[in-house]
Amino acid sequence: MDDRNIAVVAIDGPSGSGKGTIAQQLASYLGWHLLDSGALYRLVAVAAQNSAVDLDNEAGLSRVAAGLDVRFVSKADGTEQIFLGQTDVACEVRTEETGKIASNIAAMPQVRVALMELQKRFRKAPGLVADGRDMGSVVFPDAPVKIFLTASPEERARRRHKQLKDKGIDVSLPALSADIAERDLRDTERAVAPLRPAPDAEILDTTDLSIDEVVEQVKKIVARTLADR
Ligand code: DC
Repeated sequence: MDDRNIAVVAIDGPSGSGKGTIAQQLASYLGWHLLDSGALYRLVAVAAQNSAVDLDNEAGLSRVAAGLDVRFVSKADGTEQIFLGQTDVACEVRTEETGKIASNIAAMPQVRVALMELQKRFRKAPGLVADGRDMGSVVFPDAPVKIFLTASPEERARRRHKQLKDKGIDVSLPALSADIAERDLRDTERAVAPLRPAPDAEILDTTDLSIDEVVEQVKKIVARTLADR
């Protein structure tokens, strides 16, 4: 099948906007594939450190990105495994430290180019829910559904804090807020594929909404758009 006939729901937004959870729930509801593109940038960070590639060596990092051997597995109990070769690196991938390095690496144009093909390969029938920063604007510009999730910085820091606490990771809320502000700035101000809504994206502010409410709204947007196709 021509890729362009395979529908993509692009869900973009800043850290803590809820896009990861929403994308996961939507993909499982629709029975579609899921691309967590942030995890790919995080994996480049982990793989580079494993193979002693300097984190400011753009050419070296882009080679790591081009050669990523990754497999995502969702277990029945809801936990995830992320295999780099034969090793499950999910825990390292999800740390705040890896997120910070990923945000730096993601500003490098060669790394973004190197990950482009890999991201496009996730577009498989019956459809793809793609979560990231530039899914609707750069990677899948022809996606029929583009949603940009936002929430106030305070609410996003609070959500991230809870998420980490639930995993037994203790981080102070003010430190997390400062990290989120710094990451927002880097992600929105970088020269290539900066974090911003595609012109045809539907913007949804989730500050005062529960996850279930956001999922319901997103399902409605998807149903409406796909019915019009
Ligand atoms: O969503 P996340 O926190 O897992 O993403 C980690 C970093 O990767 C984020 O700070 C910016 C970068 N990223 C990106 O530049 N483009 C994407 N499509 C996804 C993530």
